[in-house]
Amino acid sequence: MEPILPGAPWLIAHRSMLGINKPYKVTLNEHDYVLWQNQQGEVFALDNICPHMQAPLSDGWICEDTGTITCPFHALKFDGKGRLHNCGKVSGQPLLTPLDIIIKDDCIWTYGGYTPKIPIPDLISNVSAGMSFLGVAGEKSMRGTFLDSISINYDYNHQSGTHRDLFGIKANRIPLFEHDGYWAKVVQELDREDTTWNDILQNPLILTAPKTYTGTLEYAFPSLTTFRATFPIGEVLQVHVLYPETTTQTKTFVLVYSQPKHTVLKPLLGRFVLSAVATVVEQDTRAIETSYPRQPAKIRLPNEEIMFHAQKLYREW
Ligand code: FES
Ligand SMILES: [Fe+2]
Repeated sequence: MEPILPGAPWLIAHRSMLGINKPYKVTLNEHDYVLWQNQQGEVFALDNICPHMQAPLSDGWICEDTGTITCPFHALKFDGKGRLHNCGKVSGQPLLTPLDIIIKDDCIWTYGGYTPKIPIPDLISNVSAGMSFLGVAGEKSMRGTFLDSISINYDYNHQSGTHRDLFGIKANRIPLFEHDGYWAKVVQELDREDTTWNDILQNPLILTAPKTYTGTLEYAFPSLTTFRATFPIGEVLQVHVLYPETTTQTKTFVLVYSQPKHTVLKPLLGRFVLSAVATVVEQDTRAIETSYPRQPAKIRLPNEEIMFHAQKLYREW
């Protein structure tokens, strides 16, 4: 299989997704890896295939004293450098290949063994300045190609179908679209439908949503889509992350940051945002998973040049 976008930096996990001394499996471009984080916050990443009889190390467990991962099949132990630990002896040569990782803003990045083609973006630290990290929502593997999955993040028409019942968007304007290399920025103005009693009963927080609001999206192709919006109870930033697991499967998760107007609003804002984000991801996933294979479109909608821009970056990588 041809790797997808070789040399791209991929954000494979946020520290908070790893827990402490727990194996975490990552599939990137058809390769499986196991990650774990120790009590001191050191993160290790190895090939997931045990060199003895090929059991998945991610089904094993971490031994805190030796800092090793134990294979679930015959309980051999390997350290973060891939060396075998046996009765207090350490093999000289690694038997497993470690995956090169780079940690930035508590995010774990990798090039998946390819020569870097572009640097790791500074986007997260730029857009999250002054905000605090709330959590991760919508962690999911989608049955869909990377291109279909990324296209929806640059699609400024799908909110009226895919997300119709979330906020009842009736109009959508794009006063700004600018791009420079792999970075792009879009400003989106949304008008909501009138709120019905039924909407309020289903989602009382809708009362706090203004009739018109502005969202600012910034992209670091191919891994990140950030969306920042101000609500009456505070400011919210979502960082939508994507990476290709296989040619037909794409991983997504969303890092959520906030700055409540008042600290007492923090738990409310947190619950509201994390569950709204999970719903958004659910809806996008459904749109991706249920669509038939793509064909040339016979209809053109406004602002689709933003999506075509991303598809061009993909094709010309
Ligand atoms: S397969 Fe891993 S120890 Fe045997
Ligand atoms: Fe969406």
